[in-house]
Amino acid sequence: PIPVIIDCDTGVDDALALLFAVRHPGIDLRAVTCVAGNTDVDGVVRNTLTVLERAGAGDVPVARGAERPLIEAARSARHVHGTDGMGDLGLPAPARRPADVDAVTLLRREILASPRPVTLVPTAPLTNIALLLRTHPEVTRNIERIVFMGGAVATGNATPVAEFNVWHDPEAAAILLTAGVPITMYGLDVFQRVVVPGADVRRLRASTEPGARLAGDLLAHRPAAPDPDGDDPDGGLGDAGAVCAVADPAGLTTRHLPVEVSLAPGPTRGQTVVDRRPRPGEAEIHGVGREPALVDVALDVDVARYVKLYLETVAAA
Ligand code: BDR
Ligand code: CA
Repeated sequence: PIPVIIDCDTGVDDALALLFAVRHPGIDLRAVTCVAGNTDVDGVVRNTLTVLERAGAGDVPVARGAERPLIEAARSARHVHGTDGMGDLGLPAPARRPADVDAVTLLRREILASPRPVTLVPTAPLTNIALLLRTHPEVTRNIERIVFMGGAVATGNATPVAEFNVWHDPEAAAILLTAGVPITMYGLDVFQRVVVPGADVRRLRASTEPGARLAGDLLAHRPAAPDPDGDDPDGGLGDAGAVCAVADPAGLTTRHLPVEVSLAPGPTRGQTVVDRRPRPGEAEIHGVGREPALVDVALDVDVARYVKLYLETVAAA
């Protein structure tokens, strides 16, 4: 199996991602680190532990990370993810405690200890990852790839042009992009398209298996489109799609393109500027006085393939 570490802000769809990672036989989930984003970091830790317990993965280490972005104050997305940050499903408090080390320390330890290079999957603002890369740059020697949910080629969600995870901590995202390891950007352009049909959501909700049932309840909290019949809305996989892309990269169409984050104050802050021009000559790239990082940007996704993969994996407990 592929050694994977998820850095998340659980989060309805981060929870969907965790459930999938725990259950997919091709993924060895070695640790989960938490960062402020959808809700405050203590809420993220609690939600993450709850989900892992429900999924039967109680022994995966979980660590608390950054409480706020590198530069700006924290801004939560409770309006999207409920007051508890995870859909207000009334889940019990977790029995387990987080690790007694912080997220950056756990990331370093688990990355360097892994016998095979680790795939890092951030599904949240990139604060922990930026702190890791700046504090312990030696970790890059044992990172296979970073597959992050964030950014957008076309339209944003937090602002007209910026996606939430990048917008929440643009400086951290800029540090990630220049990490010098292979990077896949699983941005809004594909993120918003992977949607589970309402009938499948209903089937999951009716399951007697706790993890599958939780996936159904979470999907029901992520209506992707208004339901014409008033029941069984389709549910977006969200962050879980990025983990599907690790388990089954062939379902994603990517292009190796220059990407830069706008750090300017004002309406473009947090935008990922993806250069899709026919490959400019060297002179043009260098002409602007900097070399944007080249990233494998997801431009298309096989929706049916990832929905099938998700349902088979999560329901197969
Ligand atoms: C991202 O923001 C969060 O609300 C979701 O969990 C996802 O990671 C989408 O912009
Ligand atoms: Ca998230």
